[in-house]
Amino acid sequence: MHNLECIDVDLKERSYKIYIGFDILKGISDILRDLGAGKKVVIITNPSVNKFYGEAVNSGLRGAGFDSHTVEVPDGEEFKTIREAERLYDELITLKVDRGSTIAALGGGVIGDLAGFIAATYMRGIPYIQIPTSLLAQVDSSVGGKTAVNHPEGKNMIGVFYQPRAVIIDTKTLRTLPREELLAGLAEVVKYGIIADADLFEYLERNIKAVLLLNHDALRYIIKTSCRIKGSVVELDEREAGYRAVLNFGHTIGHAIETLTQYRDFRHGEAISIGMVYAVRLSEEMGFCARDDSSRIENLLSNIGLPTQLPDLEPDDIIASIYLDKEVRNDKIRFVLTEGIGKVKIEEDISPDILRKILEKR
Ligand code: NAD
Ligand code: GLY
Repeated sequence: MHNLECIDVDLKERSYKIYIGFDILKGISDILRDLGAGKKVVIITNPSVNKFYGEAVNSGLRGAGFDSHTVEVPDGEEFKTIREAERLYDELITLKVDRGSTIAALGGGVIGDLAGFIAATYMRGIPYIQIPTSLLAQVDSSVGGKTAVNHPEGKNMIGVFYQPRAVIIDTKTLRTLPREELLAGLAEVVKYGIIADADLFEYLERNIKAVLLLNHDALRYIIKTSCRIKGSVVELDEREAGYRAVLNFGHTIGHAIETLTQYRDFRHGEAISIGMVYAVRLSEEMGFCARDDSSRIENLLSNIGLPTQLPDLEPDDIIASIYLDKEVRNDKIRFVLTEGIGKVKIEEDISPDILRKILEKR
């Protein structure tokens, strides 16, 4: 297909390509053919995404001779459940899906995580591809093979690492994405700049208007760069033995904010934006990062339109919530910090006192 850029994720026999282009949904059949995919394809999507993009994917596949079917899941995080997965297994059995079939996850991170989980578990694993349509899914969740459903006791509690056969990113889909969702995805792009790429960070500083106006070249650059960074982290530590945790920059305080506000007040990216501001302040307090870098980070996030101030939560409640999180091992708070824009550092033992100090400064 013309107009496509390609990034390799090298994971030996689980390697795959990330394709990035504009208006490419109709041509997905070419990629499936190159993968040697069987005839049957089941598109898992939700009504909000299906109404915009289902037809292009489905008709493109059918026109190329694939036996393509669409299965919908209601829109929302509350449907990323084992119950919904069970309902989908029933549909797959009715459609006579087998190990030669392919699942295509068409949607945001909720659809990607759920469809990936189903692909990983149905008949002990069948091939799947990711067709992410939210910015968050395009720069983060579609790459790296984390699949999961939620449990009432916690998000993403039930899951498995299972890599897709390909990730196909059509930047044109971002035109229909609600603006708040675009901003939430941008928080993750800023994160990549902070942890790994000072040029990406500077690019965002200089070109944020173009990004927010969905300029094609700007989107392509930030998505491509983000995918390259995520892919290279996953190549080094596919199953999160250690290093992959750098992707959690901003997530320690971010998760505490999401939990303490019952996931109601903030999108994930918004909570991460606040979490990043405080992670940078902590880095500065500990002498790892200069004041100038921490001001640039806060300025960029607020220029994007992301929140940077803690909501009205008690510092001790935030600390207590962090202690319940998976970032705490042997009672020690592990924290991803920065040594300046483009450089990441994992600290294994952060004291509650220093955390309280930065959380008290509003
Ligand atoms: P989402 O999937 O709920 O999508 C956000 C909203 O945008 C939804 O209403 C969706 O229907 C809509 N939407 C998506 N694409 C659209 C488009 N092009 N046009 C119009 N509407 C569109 O949320 P998300 O932010 O994409 O993903 C969040 C999920 O991702 C969470 O469940 C989170 O746990 C998961 N996640 C997974 C990983 C991973 O590594 N697997 C990483 C980060 C997040
Ligand atoms: N979003 C974090 C990870 O994929 O590891």
